[in-house]
Amino acid sequence: MNRAAPDNARGTANSLPVPVNVLIVGSGGREHALAWKIARSTRAGKIFCAPGNAGTSALGENVAIPADDIPALLAFAKSRDIGLTVVGPDDSLAAGIADAFEADGLKIFGPNASAARLESSKAFAKDFMRRHGIPTADYQEFTDSAAAREWCRAAKYPLVIKADGLALGKGVVIAESPEAAADAIRQCMDDRIFGDAGKKIVVEEFLHGEECSIHALVDGTSYLLLPDCRDHKRAFDGDLGPNTGGMGTICPSGSISAPLAALVKSDILDRFLAGIRADGLAFRGMLFPGVMLTADGPKVLEFNCRWGDPETQSLVRRLDSDLLDLLEACADARLASLSPLWSDGASACVILASGGYPGTYEKGKPISGLDRVSDPCVVFHAGTKSDPGGGAILTNGGRVLGVTATGSDLHEARARAYAAADMITFDGLQRRNDIGAAK
Ligand SMILES: Nc1ncnc2c1ncn2[C@@H]1O[C@H](COP(=O)(O)OP(=O)(O)O)[C@@H](O)[C@H]1O
Ligand SMILES: [Mg+2]
Repeated sequence: MNRAAPDNARGTANSLPVPVNVLIVGSGGREHALAWKIARSTRAGKIFCAPGNAGTSALGENVAIPADDIPALLAFAKSRDIGLTVVGPDDSLAAGIADAFEADGLKIFGPNASAARLESSKAFAKDFMRRHGIPTADYQEFTDSAAAREWCRAAKYPLVIKADGLALGKGVVIAESPEAAADAIRQCMDDRIFGDAGKKIVVEEFLHGEECSIHALVDGTSYLLLPDCRDHKRAFDGDLGPNTGGMGTICPSGSISAPLAALVKSDILDRFLAGIRADGLAFRGMLFPGVMLTADGPKVLEFNCRWGDPETQSLVRRLDSDLLDLLEACADARLASLSPLWSDGASACVILASGGYPGTYEKGKPISGLDRVSDPCVVFHAGTKSDPGGGAILTNGGRVLGVTATGSDLHEARARAYAAADMITFDGLQRRNDIGAAK
């Protein structure tokens, strides 16, 4: 008897999956890690990275479009039949890349500009947290520098001064005295060292505790909590030196017990989901709250609305399921139907940076030893480029490489990551030797 094929014949046991072309926006270690994991999907078609780095060019094709050129990215995605665009950087999201793609009917992973304000305006995020009962530090917001200085005179120290807008991770000052607070306020609000990002500030209570990076995929109606990570933000061993974009990560962090994870869900993620629904924010993408584990429970330091860098490098190494499936399900608001699998054990990522980072540094140094690293270690590129004149790979940024490894426990993962890191050299290489070390 003849039977018509079902409408959804696609994806049945006998049919081949339809390949999905993927565009990854950004050029850091996070984007290489996402591209690497997506490339392992049986459904992945062609992978493009805009603008990408030397690592992503080995997985797919780099496209010379800056991550913030939304019209050019949209035109490219349309011309290449891109089935999913995955956005790395915060500023592209804040500028409305998701709005532009969705308006043209293209699938994109990352929140729209209204929802991304939870990252791009710290005052907006604090107001959201206060209204929806999400634990966070007490705060005041100011748009007038004299009023801010006046308030800070009688405050308790240390005190935290934050530029409202995106400031490349440099907009937060921990002030130890009213004089230091006044300096920070002047630089931010009067001298405008962060431009318009410093028109408004948030002044908040200093929280004591260990920091932890929480990641949860959010599709507007449900969320999926990923394993927790620890970043190491300071430039030098022992948590000394200036803050950086992150010098290494471990996953899991080792600080989130089952009861604490339950609190993260009930007090942060459940309330976040209820909050975005109440406020009509169409948040579909990654929610990455920076959390302080205080004696009074976990408190949110900030919301990031994208994958962490270098947290992503550690996370993808432990994900056993298909990342393309997960990202598509999030963009389609189908997250509730998935239960991704994570490997037992741990992963670690050690960043190899250019000498001088996060201050000034030189670029264009040849990197050697990359070919000596093999499974279970994977090197993700960040600031690298291929030498236009030959086969060499050159340094091209502050954070150059992220050397990752998995292991049955943290001890094994970090030993493997450092053994691999020891094989790689370039002039001026700077790294921390205590990523994931016992405190
Ligand atoms: N209320 C606070 N108490 C203690 N430390 C804080 C507080 N807020 C921020 N910090 C520290 O400053 C760092 C940067 O602050 P954050 O809000 O994450 O801003 P950004 O990442 O945009 O620079 C945090 O990782 C944390 O170490
Ligand atoms: Mg932060």
